[in-house]
Amino acid sequence: MATLPGSWPYPRVLAHRGGGTLAPENTLAGMREGLRRGYRAIEYDIMLARDGVPVVLHDPYLGRTVAGSGKVVDYDASELALLDAGGWFARKFEGEPVPLFVEFAQYCKAHGVWMNMEIKPAPGYDIETGGTVARIAAALFAEDIAAGDMAAVPLLSSFSMLALASARDLAPQVPRACLMSELAPDWERRAREVEAIAIHTNHKHLTPQLAQEVRAAGYGLFCYTVNEPRRARELLSWGVEAFCTDRIDLFKPDFS
Ligand code: G3P
Ligand code: MG
Repeated sequence: MATLPGSWPYPRVLAHRGGGTLAPENTLAGMREGLRRGYRAIEYDIMLARDGVPVVLHDPYLGRTVAGSGKVVDYDASELALLDAGGWFARKFEGEPVPLFVEFAQYCKAHGVWMNMEIKPAPGYDIETGGTVARIAAALFAEDIAAGDMAAVPLLSSFSMLALASARDLAPQVPRACLMSELAPDWERRAREVEAIAIHTNHKHLTPQLAQEVRAAGYGLFCYTVNEPRRARELLSWGVEAFCTDRIDLFKPDFS
């Protein structure tokens, strides 16, 4: 694989959901934990609230990481921001809010943290979510985009082709990646359709042959969620260029 040109201009190791499993996922507390450990790259999830304002959240329902019940889309962002997104993890994180996407992204940018923004639409909200996240990312990084500093610009990823297509239509200048748990036989057609630059896939289903195929076609290759250094080394030897991890205590950000 060493003969193929690198197609991933971003950091190699990303903290999954902000701070991995050392802090409540998708919170500023998680981000700060990553910062303390030298991480300057993260993956996190973004969903729209009822009023169309994006928040940093993984599940479309409250109850697992956010105190409360019902659907995320039953609440406005300002209401979600008042709910406890940290107490489920540990008492010391009680009262940690659900971050507003804009504020969270601004915080990351201000601290030099590169972002893989995963567009995670609540069911039925794919198009609005993809478009909103892309437009906001484009506005936040307008100067970097204008200067051609694309390594600083976030990478948008999603399992939702509808969301990615919407992102492409509304802010084509922000790069996209197709998320697929398992690479579908038509993975390249899908990537071309949304003009993706990278494939993000579950390492558990990847093979050396598939990795070679993706890289040979000129796409970046990223895996989630890799929590064992030995496995990470194996994946890198197959041509995987980057990965996210929950174990920011086991992986140094400059892991190789
Ligand atoms: O973006 C990679 C990974 O986060 C996708 O799965 O469920 O952890 O958001 P999930
Ligand atoms: Mg995610």
